[in-house]
Amino acid sequence: MSAGGRRFPERIALPLSPWACGRLRLPGSKSISNRALLLAALAQGESELSGLLASDDTRVMLEALRRLGVRIEERGEARFRVHGCAGSFPVKEAELFLGNAGTAFRSLTAALAMGDGHYRLSGVARMHERPIGDLVEALSALGADIRYLGGQGYPPLEIFPLATGGRCQTWVRGNVSSQFLSALLMALPLAGRAAEIEVVGELISKPYVEITLNLLARFGVNWRRDAWQRFVLDGGSAYLSPGVFAVEADASSASYFLAAGAIAGGPVSVHGVGRDSIQGDLAFTQTLAAMGARIELGEDSITARGPRAGKLRAIDADFNHIPDAAMTVAILALFADGASTLRNIGSWRVKETDRIAAMATELRKLGAVVEAGADFLSIFPPAQLVANASIDTYDDHRMAMCFSLLALGGVPVQINDPGCVAKTYPDYFDDLARIAAPVLAIDGPSASGKGTVAARVAAALGFHYLDSGSLYRLTALAALDAGVALDDEAALAALASRLPAEFQGGRVLLAGREATDRIREEACSIGASKVAALPAVRAALLERQRAYRQSPGLVAEGRDMGSVVFPDAVLKVFLTASAKARAARRHKQLIEKGMSANISTLLQDLEERDARDAARSVAPLQQCPDARLLDTTALSVEQAVGTVLEWQQALRRPD
Ligand code: DC
Repeated sequence: MSAGGRRFPERIALPLSPWACGRLRLPGSKSISNRALLLAALAQGESELSGLLASDDTRVMLEALRRLGVRIEERGEARFRVHGCAGSFPVKEAELFLGNAGTAFRSLTAALAMGDGHYRLSGVARMHERPIGDLVEALSALGADIRYLGGQGYPPLEIFPLATGGRCQTWVRGNVSSQFLSALLMALPLAGRAAEIEVVGELISKPYVEITLNLLARFGVNWRRDAWQRFVLDGGSAYLSPGVFAVEADASSASYFLAAGAIAGGPVSVHGVGRDSIQGDLAFTQTLAAMGARIELGEDSITARGPRAGKLRAIDADFNHIPDAAMTVAILALFADGASTLRNIGSWRVKETDRIAAMATELRKLGAVVEAGADFLSIFPPAQLVANASIDTYDDHRMAMCFSLLALGGVPVQINDPGCVAKTYPDYFDDLARIAAPVLAIDGPSASGKGTVAARVAAALGFHYLDSGSLYRLTALAALDAGVALDDEAALAALASRLPAEFQGGRVLLAGREATDRIREEACSIGASKVAALPAVRAALLERQRAYRQSPGLVAEGRDMGSVVFPDAVLKVFLTASAKARAARRHKQLIEKGMSANISTLLQDLEERDARDAARSVAPLQQCPDARLLDTTALSVEQAVGTVLEWQQALRRPD
């Protein structure tokens, strides 16, 4: 299946990962991206938007705006220049298909209804089941002419030009979807008149309305509000580009990774969103803290760790203010020490699917006892969660993202139709896989013992192990066997990219032939150091090395593991020892193998090699600035391994 420009399988089985750890830069906020696009399109002047989310929902908005005649230039990754149309879309007659993008449908309906064109708006079948009657009524009271093309109160819609001289006052129900109020707040300034909106009943999801007011202010329009009941706009308000606008990372998307940190140790840090975020879902961090997770809020990042001891605590709370992130709480509840209740979540019923029904059905597949009401969900976690449940996702991105967290809680799970994540987060599973497979990078000078230490650390943690040097050695061996010159960069890179190498326990095979000892011979050592200095060879081996990163984690040993191959490694160690100590160790090794050796020659060789390695222009031997130095001169192998394991443990308990 193809979604969001990439292909997804029909279902995925997620591998278990007992430890989630890592740092991620998250994609932009959906709510902010789509509002910023619309306001930039309606503003006077050009706006440069950065950090914009690339997903199905934002693509729908971008395409719709382009069809309406707005010029939008793509200027590199996640950057767009929008040429504003100063309040009036150039195209006056259009048919718009808006998929299942609620934010685009509601806000465009209102904006177009306040204009002087003739439009038809439709979406996927589920969009035509999501009510819009309250918004249409509120707009009609202002003189808008909107007709239902299908069922009364639901899309598709036909919109005619706004009658002139209509009333400037309207009202809207606050308890169905806050998107109706947001749509009105964004559209009414287009009429150029003073305006007033009254909210009937309790307004739900207030933080989303706050995002809207915040963005409107950035684009020059200031509504005054009287509690959450009345919103007043002065006449003559108009949108003006702020010039540049940076979209924050998505706080709802952050909830999955922060939950992963809470369930599976952590620390997991998300970047691009922090303590001053304007997104309501930031409040999810308070829920996590109340459940016992440890949270750190930075200026531009949030970090989550599991509880200091024991399980997460059950929770009983009102989640009206964070309806999206509340779905993540339902999954956390499975790992809590008792029954949890999520209250005041009635808006779930009119989202991408009926989320209360969907959540209850799928949670039960895991063995949970669930009580579902009109606007609440109670979850009683079972003593043991059911393994390998087949989870349906209802074309709802959040169902897929939420339930995938089970794997991090040690419960294997199958997610059906995982492609639905493309609605807001096409790369979700890649990012999840990254924190579910933390990397420890170990480097150091020749004969520092890094190979032995790295292999033992990997064995102790049950992690995969990558001896990257052996890939360079194998490339050299393959070249020597095939008669390829060791300075023929293109031919060597071609060899490296399709190296028929296999690792079986401690054995190394090349094209099915034993190569364990051959790659350690002097000719291969010299050859490896030559081919490793060629940028094309390094590039050819890059993806191959990255493919070793698999759950539950990887210990990667070698020159540029922490700087180039796995810059996001959770622990980087630079293992060293005095040249004298290294020469003595090598001497002992050789003597034990029955070979003759001279310690002062070995020392001289090592010192010369260190100097050459450090001076090399490609991947020189140097300690990464963020690597921890481990001097093993006075340590045994066991002590060195113990120190690395202690550092790994300390990541989870910094205090
Ligand atoms: O660690 P080793 O001695 O097996 O490495 C063989 C050669 O490859 C050595 O010259 C260093 C080089 N190398 C590298 O440049 N980058 C790596 N990631 C690993 C090894």
